[in-house]
Amino acid sequence: MERGWTHVEGFVLCLILHLLLQGEGDTFTINCSGFDQHGVDPAAFQAVFDRKAFRPVINYSIPTHVNISFTLSAILEVDAQRQLMTSFLWLNVIWYNPFISWNPKECGGIRKLSMTTENLWLPDIFIEEFMDVDQTPTDLMAYVNNEGRIKYDKPMQVVSICKLDIFYFPFDQQNCTLTFGSFLYTVENMVLGMENKVQEISNTSLNLIRSKGEWVLLSIHQRAKKMTVGTNQYDQIIFYVVIRRRPRLYVINLLLPSGFLVAIDTLSFYLPAESGNRAPFKITLLLGYNVFLLMMSDLLPTRGTPLISVYFALCLSLMVVSLLETIFIIYLLHMATSEPPPMPQWLHSLLLHCTSPRKCCPTAAQKGNKDLGLTSTHLPGLKEPEVSAGKMPRPGEAELNGCPESTRAQEHEAQKQHLAELWVQFSHMMDTLLFCLYLLFMASSISTLIVLWNT
Ligand SMILES: *[C@@H]1O[C@H](CO)[C@@H](O)[C@H](O)[C@H]1NC(C)=O
Ligand SMILES: *[C@@H]1O[C@H](CO)[C@@H](O)[C@H](O)[C@H]1NC(C)=O
Ligand SMILES: *[C@@H]1O[C@H](CO)[C@@H](O)[C@H](O)[C@H]1NC(C)=O
Ligand SMILES: *[C@@H]1O[C@H](CO)[C@@H](O)[C@H](O)[C@H]1NC(C)=O
Ligand SMILES: *[C@@H]1O[C@H](CO)[C@@H](O)[C@H](O)[C@H]1NC(C)=O
Repeated sequence: MERGWTHVEGFVLCLILHLLLQGEGDTFTINCSGFDQHGVDPAAFQAVFDRKAFRPVINYSIPTHVNISFTLSAILEVDAQRQLMTSFLWLNVIWYNPFISWNPKECGGIRKLSMTTENLWLPDIFIEEFMDVDQTPTDLMAYVNNEGRIKYDKPMQVVSICKLDIFYFPFDQQNCTLTFGSFLYTVENMVLGMENKVQEISNTSLNLIRSKGEWVLLSIHQRAKKMTVGTNQYDQIIFYVVIRRRPRLYVINLLLPSGFLVAIDTLSFYLPAESGNRAPFKITLLLGYNVFLLMMSDLLPTRGTPLISVYFALCLSLMVVSLLETIFIIYLLHMATSEPPPMPQWLHSLLLHCTSPRKCCPTAAQKGNKDLGLTSTHLPGLKEPEVSAGKMPRPGEAELNGCPESTRAQEHEAQKQHLAELWVQFSHMMDTLLFCLYLLFMASSISTLIVLWNT
C-alpha cells in the first residue's frame, strides 16, 4: 500500500515536472499583448537582453546556423602598389534566436520589430582579407521577427588585400577574394550558409553598381571551405569578385599619342636623309616622346612591369635607333661624296642580292624618293660626279682619242662614282630595313591591342 502510493506520487511528480518543463518552453515566448496599444514593453524582452553575452541556443552542442549574403554597391579604388581593393558592400547576416518568439495574434499582427543590436548577441562575421579598421557604426538596428529570425544588415567599406596582376594593364582583369568567416566560433558552434544564391548576389550587385568608375564588375563566384587551424575547424565562405578595368581613358591618353608619334616617326623616312632635315625632325620627335612619357607616368602603375611599359620602351628604343641610323647615313653620304671607302665584298654581294631581284620588302624609301621625284643621283654632293659621268666618254672612245692618262683618271673617277652609288644604295637599304621594322612593330602592336581589347 505504502509502495503503491509512492508509485502514484512518483507518477504525479513526473507529470508536474513535465508540465513545468513545458512551461519552461513557454517562458521563451514573449507576452506581446498590448504592444499594439501601449508600444513595445521593454520588460517583455528583458530576459532576451540579459542573455546577450551568450550564444543563443537551448542545447549548447547544436551549432548556430548563420546565413550570410551581401550586395556589392561600389568598387571605389584598386591600388596596384599596395595590392588593395576598396569596395563598399552591404552585409546581411541572418540567424535564429530561439529565446525570441511571440504570437502575432495576441498583439494586433505585429510580425517583426526592429531593435538595437547593442542588446543582442551578434555573430562575429569578418572578412579575412580586410586590411583596415572596420569603420562600421556599431549602434545599428536589426529586424527580429516573431519566430526569432534576426536579420542584421550593415554597410561596410572593405579595404581588402587582393593579388593584383597588372601585366595586361590597362586591359587587366582582377580576381579578388572576400572570405567570410568567424573569428571565434569553430564548426561545432557556428555553421555558415548562403542566404541567397550567388547568382542573385551577382545580379543585384551588377544592377546596383551604377557608378561609371574605372572598374566594371564582371561576376561573383562562391565556394564554401573549412579552414583548419591546429585542431580547430572554422567554416568559411569564399567569394571571388571578378572585375575589369575600363581601358578607354588609357587608350586615349597613353596608347593613341604614343602611336601617333611612332607613326610620324615612320613617315619621317620619306624625308631624304641627305637633305639634313630628317635628323632634327627625329630629335624633335624624340624630345616630344620623352615629354609625353614624363607627363603620363602618373597614369602608369607604379609597381611591376606591365606590357605597356615594355611597349613604351620599345617605341623609345626604335626612335633612338632610327635617329642613330639617320646620323650614320648622313656620315656615310658625306664620306661617299668626298672619299668613298672601299666596300667589303660580303656587303657588296648582299647589296646586289637584295637590290637586283625584288626579294626584300618593297623598298619604301626608294618608292618615297620616286614619289618625291628624286633619285639617288640627285644628291647635292653627288651632282658633280654625275655630271662628269654624263660627260665621260666610253673607254673605247678614250683610247681612240689617244690619251691613256686621262682615261685612267676617268676610270678612277667612274669607279669612285660607282662606289659612291653603292654606298647610297646601302644607305637606302638600311632605311628600307628600318622602315619595315617600324611597319612590323606598328602592325604587331595594333594586333595585340585588338586582341587584348576583345578578350
Ligand atoms: C500578458 O500580459 C498581460 C498584461 O500585460 C496579462 O494581462 C496577460 O495575462 C499576460 N499573458 C500571459 C499569457 O501571461
Ligand atoms: C543536445 O544535442 C545533442 C546533439 O544534437 C544531442 O545528442 C543531445 O541529446 C541534446 N541534448 C538535449 C538535452 O536535448
Ligand atoms: C539559411 O539558408 C538555408 C537555405 O539557403 C535555409 O534552409 C535556412 O533556414 C537559412 N537559415 C536561416 C537562419 O535563415
Ligand atoms: C578566381 O580565382 C579562383 C581561385 O584562385 C579560381 O578558382 C576562379 O576560377 C577564378 N575566377 C576567374 C574568373 O578567374
Ligand atoms: C540574373 O540575371 C539574368 C539576366 O540579367 C537572368 O537571366 C538570371 O535568371 C538572373 N539570375 C538570378 C539568379 O536571378
